[in-house]
Amino acid sequence: METDRILLRLWRESDAEVLFKWASNPDVGSRAGWPPHKSVEESLEIIRTLFNNDTTWAIVLKETDEAIGAIGYGPSCDCNLPARDCEPIVGYWIAKPYWNQGICTEALRMMIENIRETTDILSLISGHFIDNPASGRVMEKCGFLATGETCIDETQYMGKDRPIRVLRLELS
Ligand SMILES: CC(C)(COP(=O)(O)OP(=O)(O)OC[C@H]1O[C@@H](n2cnc3c(N)ncnc32)[C@H](O)[C@@H]1OP(=O)(O)O)[C@@H](O)C(=O)NCCC(=O)NCCS
Repeated sequence: METDRILLRLWRESDAEVLFKWASNPDVGSRAGWPPHKSVEESLEIIRTLFNNDTTWAIVLKETDEAIGAIGYGPSCDCNLPARDCEPIVGYWIAKPYWNQGICTEALRMMIENIRETTDILSLISGHFIDNPASGRVMEKCGFLATGETCIDETQYMGKDRPIRVLRLELS
């Protein structure tokens, strides 16, 4: 999947150093609910486990051929969002130097197009901490609508007492 500026490809073990470079910044993970990476080894382990599937992609900037973020979707059963029958949950992050350039919106639009073309998924759910409105803006620009629900997920890093605003995209 690609646009003029970015491409989405599966993660490679050779991305571990660049993943650590971006994901060790506490400003990134704290907004998404995960702790900053502490070592290249930890980043490699995440590539080998969490990112090792067919629906989690590296967002690669073509100009530098470097991974600058991640995007994906997967089962929502284990999270606290009020999902319908395990509808997939969407997640993403972008390296801080690249924020507010429209890159995440571009990546999410591309992933949604791919989901429409290659799956029979009827809807997607996602959520963002209320204190992280930029993420909600990305979803809204891609057609997600707020469901009116909020939830707390204490299992998320710094998730306690941080309400999550829930949004859904109907694909049918
Ligand atoms: C949220 C995140 C993925 C957005 O990526 P991005 O590439 O900067 O997003 P885009 O540039 O496509 O869009 C950002 C939008 O948020 C808006 N925005 C930025 N800061 C904002 C703020 N404080 N309040 C409201 N809107 C804000 C931007 O103006 C832009 O909207 P616009 O195009 O209408 O002007 C990125 O900031 C990030 O990785 N944050 C840390 C991890 C994270 O939050 N992940 C999501 C967890 S739910």
